[in-house]
Amino acid sequence: MSGKLKFAFFDAKPYDHPSFERYGGDAGIHFHFFETRLTPDTVELANGYDGVCVFVNDTVNADVIDRLYDMGVRTVALRCAGYNNVDIRYAFGKLHVVHVPAYSPYAVAEHAMAMLLASVRRIHKAYNRTKDFNFSLNGLTGFDLHGKTVGVIGTGKIGRIFIDICRGFGMNVIAYDKFPAPESGIAYVSLDELFAKSDIISLHCPLTEETFHTVCKETIEKMKKGVVIVNTSRGALIDADALLEGIKDRKIGAACLDVYEEEADVFFEDFSGHIMADDTLARLITMPNVLVTSHQAFLTEEALNNIAETTVNNILDIMRDGACQNELCYRCGKTETCRNGNRGKCF
Ligand code: NAI
Repeated sequence: MSGKLKFAFFDAKPYDHPSFERYGGDAGIHFHFFETRLTPDTVELANGYDGVCVFVNDTVNADVIDRLYDMGVRTVALRCAGYNNVDIRYAFGKLHVVHVPAYSPYAVAEHAMAMLLASVRRIHKAYNRTKDFNFSLNGLTGFDLHGKTVGVIGTGKIGRIFIDICRGFGMNVIAYDKFPAPESGIAYVSLDELFAKSDIISLHCPLTEETFHTVCKETIEKMKKGVVIVNTSRGALIDADALLEGIKDRKIGAACLDVYEEEADVFFEDFSGHIMADDTLARLITMPNVLVTSHQAFLTEEALNNIAETTVNNILDIMRDGACQNELCYRCGKTETCRNGNRGKCF
């Protein structure tokens, strides 16, 4: 490794700059911040850089991978945990893809609980009312979380912290995970049982072909009337049109959404002066029992610093050794079970 490393940083927001400038500067990595997202149309911007640094809504598909490879780019540094926007299989042998497996699982789990509490205690409505000196309580009746059953789908880092928080509230926790954690003390049930028994369902699994539209017309039918759905994971875990129908039918009691199926077109940007083109999102937002935040769950000081520090270390590992414990490797067909233990060179 010689000279200063240059990385093209796509989808840059003002809150990204301080931490990446600080950690990158200390490590001799220059991040060039591009506001635009990485797409097949913008990939040319990466010409002349050692790597690209991308986020959840950047596109790293086969076309982009081929073009990056042709330009001499060899590293894709995801500054997030999820990697459903990257064709990992196609990238194998061409580009090293590294990610930040955990930066603050507490940030996301706490945001899930913040949304749930705001929703069931109507805090969002009370805030608006008292700002207007309206101190009426009519329509603000909530319900106790204590004693309610929460069904947690996905019991990884974030799911487990959310479970601990729920236990602190005296809630009865049941969970489903494709790979249950033995000895964890978590009461695992089948998905169908979780749908049937849960007063609240919180999604903490990754988006895969299997988990796509976990919440859809068929599964909503299996749920309790009045169920509250919390999604801080990935938008496409929920069929947004089916969710809207479930709300209109009064089957779903409330929805707390930090992610949305078509969020790539709208989230993180200011559309306050525009006509909202997405009818489903617009309709969901008009519902009194739907709370939407704009993929904000990760956004804490602690998380931003951890993201920058880990991303910089990932880049240094790959550049120095060609190996990184946070590399997403497809050698074994599954990123989670790399035969290499993610310790040696993946290719
Ligand atoms: P993790 O990898 O620690 O846990 C994921 C869990 O899901 C694992 O226990 C895994 O076995 C389970 N799982 C895998 N396939 C499944 C399936 N088909 N059905 C049920 N469970 C399945 O991941 P972590 O850190 O807990 O993150 C969870 C998700 O949260 C990420 O995939 C990401 O999409 C999302 N996330 C959202 C953020 C936000 O700002 N809203 C920030 C960070 C992560």
